[in-house]
Amino acid sequence: MSNSRPIGVFDSGIGGLTVVRALTHHLPHENIVYFGDTARVPYGPKSSQVVREYAAQDTDVLLEHDVKMIVIACNTVSAVALDVVQKRAKVPVVGVIQPGAEAAARATTKKRVGIIGTIGTINSYAYVNTLRQIDPGIQAFSQACPLFVPLAEEGWTDHKATELIAKEYLFPLTLEKIDTLILGCTHYPLLTTIIGKVLHQSVTLIDSGEATAVTVKRLLDEKNMRNASKLKPNLQFNVSDVPHRFTEVGERFLGQKLGRVHRVAGFAA
Ligand code: DGL
Repeated sequence: MSNSRPIGVFDSGIGGLTVVRALTHHLPHENIVYFGDTARVPYGPKSSQVVREYAAQDTDVLLEHDVKMIVIACNTVSAVALDVVQKRAKVPVVGVIQPGAEAAARATTKKRVGIIGTIGTINSYAYVNTLRQIDPGIQAFSQACPLFVPLAEEGWTDHKATELIAKEYLFPLTLEKIDTLILGCTHYPLLTTIIGKVLHQSVTLIDSGEATAVTVKRLLDEKNMRNASKLKPNLQFNVSDVPHRFTEVGERFLGQKLGRVHRVAGFAA
């Protein structure tokens, strides 16, 4: 097995680039193949049955690239379809829920953890159940924040409207006196300034993508699968629709230029 094979990362669209950003920070020499299902985004409001079907197809796109590992960047997919991906792929699969929950369990001092995510992620109770497995003493409080996704894509990361919406969404969590908040969606790391402001900086924010990158690094080391080459890695981006918008918006999520974005045909909305 060649260790220079790429890590495969998939997401419902652009958001997963925040996870790629964390991966490139922790693993600067790994080749990465990304697939964003921009033809069918968002996954958040869709039924778990549909998201599971999509997840299987997204996995197949990555498997065609002979990936050595699959990272499910999308919280919604990780919440409702981790088993689908694991069953289909003969390579290790990492979702964002377990690493995010573990990081939150380590961070909380009062054992009061908030979780924000898409409707699909919140309704699945995936974070709540995982936190309880890790530490049954943790009390978890959830809030779906669907409007954060378009606001982050629009670039309204420091906008009055976003702050107003954040106040609406986060007020119930402040009443619960949480000390830690899981950012359970690919887009939310772009909104940390506003979220921190609304919560008066008194809450530790957990970026699941960041926690996932640390887990991926540990797993690659354990399995002796790190790329031995120290050359500049190849990052390849594939989407199912409108590659030009992905290029424009994606730079903000990735924190660097994307280069050429390929369109994969055959994904109808
Ligand atoms: N990537 C999704 C997630 O992390 C957010 C966007 C969507 O709803 O598809 O849950």
